[in-house]
Amino acid sequence: MGLEQIREVIFPKNGAEKKYNLTSDYYHLIMGVFEIKPNTEALDIADIQQGEKVLDAAFGTGWMLEKIIPLVGPKEKVYGIDFAPGMHRVTQERLKRENLENQVILIQGNTFSMPFKDESFDVVFASFLLDLQKIVDIQRLLYEIKRVLNPHGRVIIVAMTKEGKGLEKIARCFYDWFYPFWPTIFGYRASSRPIYVDEEIKKARFSIIKEKLTHIAVFHFPIKIVICTKG
Ligand SMILES: C[S@@+](CC[C@H](N)C(=O)[O-])C[C@H]1O[C@@H](n2cnc3c(N)ncnc32)[C@H](O)[C@@H]1O
Repeated sequence: MGLEQIREVIFPKNGAEKKYNLTSDYYHLIMGVFEIKPNTEALDIADIQQGEKVLDAAFGTGWMLEKIIPLVGPKEKVYGIDFAPGMHRVTQERLKRENLENQVILIQGNTFSMPFKDESFDVVFASFLLDLQKIVDIQRLLYEIKRVLNPHGRVIIVAMTKEGKGLEKIARCFYDWFYPFWPTIFGYRASSRPIYVDEEIKKARFSIIKEKLTHIAVFHFPIKIVICTKG
């Protein structure tokens, strides 16, 4: 049995939705350690402008939504979609605390089939979303993202990558090799794993306009940030 098949056995279909629902209350603790650094860098290079219509695909605990709201300005609502009800609850609480709940439209749904018209958005964020899908599903997801993106829009992808040298390569190899054997702790088990980010993006016929290889704040796991257009 190959590594990919072992992964599929460990992660049965629909496992992710249940997992993110169960872990929504403390997911921000995990995110704080692993995801805030690359997400902050992605926001910096995304260069979001006032008035842009932005979708955060798989918004998790709403960290990114909170940061995007002031960038697009008070007249534009920010859209988010995520399939885990727990993530919706946590995000709504976060936005309420900050008095921002009227600035967003949150949809509970699947990013593989989004309830938005073609060409609806100027910017689509997909942060730590691609790298937790089955490899065979990534193209389908990218095509759905492409469908809702307007012709001049841009997609910002943040994902664990197979790239990286030195410390990053060591960290990545360690993570990759032991990935099938990670234990489940309090219902949470890391399901993101390194993928060939650029290859997937090119295969979906996006054009890469900016890219950055970075790493999470601890352990140096390599993360790829890519900004691309419809090409
Ligand atoms: C690793 S977290 C990333 C959250 C956020 N984007 C971030 O960078 O912190 C993955 C999120 O994607 C959501 N998710 C995963 N697959 C999804 C899908 N197919 N449709 C909608 N949401 C999905 C999960 O519920 C979870 O909130």
